[in-house]
Amino acid sequence: MAPRILVVDDEEELRISVEKVLRKAGYAVDLAGTAAQAVEMLRRGGYHLLVTDFRLPDGDGLELMRQARAIDPDIEAIVITAFGNVPLAVDAIKQGAYDFLIKPFKRAELERGVERALEKQRLAAENRRLKLALSQTEGPQFIGESDAARKLMQVVEQVASSSATVLLTGESGTGKELVADAIHRLSPRRDNPLIKVNCAALPETLLEAELFGHERGAFTGAVGRRDGRFALAHRGTLFLDEVSTLTPAVQVKLLRVLQDGAFEPLGSTRTVRADVRLVAASNVDLAVEVAQGRFREDLFYRLNVITVTVPPLRERVDDIAPLAQHFLRLYAARNGKHLDGISRQALARLQQWRWPGNVRELEHAIERAVVMTTGPTIELQHLPEALRGARPDNGAADEAPVVRVPIGTPLEDVERLLIRETLRQTGGNKRRAAHLLGIATRTIYRKL
Ligand SMILES: Nc1ncnc2c1ncn2[C@@H]1O[C@H](COP(=O)(O)OP(=O)(O)OP(=O)(O)O)[C@@H](O)[C@H]1O
Ligand SMILES: [Mg+2]
Repeated sequence: MAPRILVVDDEEELRISVEKVLRKAGYAVDLAGTAAQAVEMLRRGGYHLLVTDFRLPDGDGLELMRQARAIDPDIEAIVITAFGNVPLAVDAIKQGAYDFLIKPFKRAELERGVERALEKQRLAAENRRLKLALSQTEGPQFIGESDAARKLMQVVEQVASSSATVLLTGESGTGKELVADAIHRLSPRRDNPLIKVNCAALPETLLEAELFGHERGAFTGAVGRRDGRFALAHRGTLFLDEVSTLTPAVQVKLLRVLQDGAFEPLGSTRTVRADVRLVAASNVDLAVEVAQGRFREDLFYRLNVITVTVPPLRERVDDIAPLAQHFLRLYAARNGKHLDGISRQALARLQQWRWPGNVRELEHAIERAVVMTTGPTIELQHLPEALRGARPDNGAADEAPVVRVPIGTPLEDVERLLIRETLRQTGGNKRRAAHLLGIATRTIYRKL
């Protein structure tokens, strides 16, 4: 396939002569007369090189180059400029243009410049593909063969290249954190840190210090100055899990970072700037939280620039077998067992179950089965009791579940057992479990 070049210049004569030279050299060439037109064409994708005049009727070549890079970070650029503007051209190179051409330029100069720029583009793109392949083998894998899973990965690939804030929604255990990992690893920020914060796991005051950092003595116990997670995530990605649990004060501060990219550490008047891509996750519907006055509407809109919804496992039954196989291999290896697979009946039962706890519940079921199995395959009897008795479309919540404890059990153990069983019933959803137990979500995290 011939490399594709976009030539942008307001002078028709120059456009046409450049086009002629480049076509003769075997390139695919498109032409645009304004920056706006060029951006529209770039959005459609597929370009390797941008050759643009410095002065355009509706903007300048440098800005156009920046926009092109925002669309496709691998695109190369050559800037054309009049003789009097050489300092500007040098500036263009500093800002990442590959080369500049001074009008009037010779045909050979154009050919050579384009050839070299395209070679650089090719190497950069190849490098990126390699890194991508590498990152995919290094990190945890996202398993999925259903249409829904494929679509999800397509969306993830699309959003990864931009820096827009992403809100991940979906039930507990569907794989939101894994999706956040994938977004980071597929993004141009992949060589910089991915920092994760679970907003529900820390009390308010600590969370604020954790996110934004603090000066020495900012609060009792702040013995030294510390950078917050926002600062640590500079040029990388910050994953904020369970954002729905943020308190009003922290919501305000987060809103400001999203608006201005700036914040003040606790106990400080110093303004810190951080270039951070935010990925937030919630397993409760934030729109409902907004409607009920628990979550700021303005913050919701800032977080909700791109929403990626991870569908529940019961809506992608085709993923159950490959996921079960994946967890089987994983836990067999961890437990030093050799297992061939899962029996037909056991697999059928796995596919019928509604999985209120989604992939996490499936993972635990397989882990448990691997431990229980003495033979070469996982059979029906190795699956959790709830599943074995399952009729096809029957959840676990039909009869009120019971926890039985003998008299004489220490209260602490009763508490632990009750929390664990409640969590099991809610499929690992800590918020719902907390609600059932009549305690705060934070308290569950602390007790865990
Ligand atoms: N598609 C998948 N492929 C492989 N493993 C998966 C997949 N989806 C989820 N998992 C695994 O399932 C478990 C739960 O996933 P994860 O922690 O990402 O869920 P979550 O949506 O963040 O849940 P919660 O809302 O409760 O935090 C993890 O161990 C994860 O590795
Ligand atoms: Mg999670």
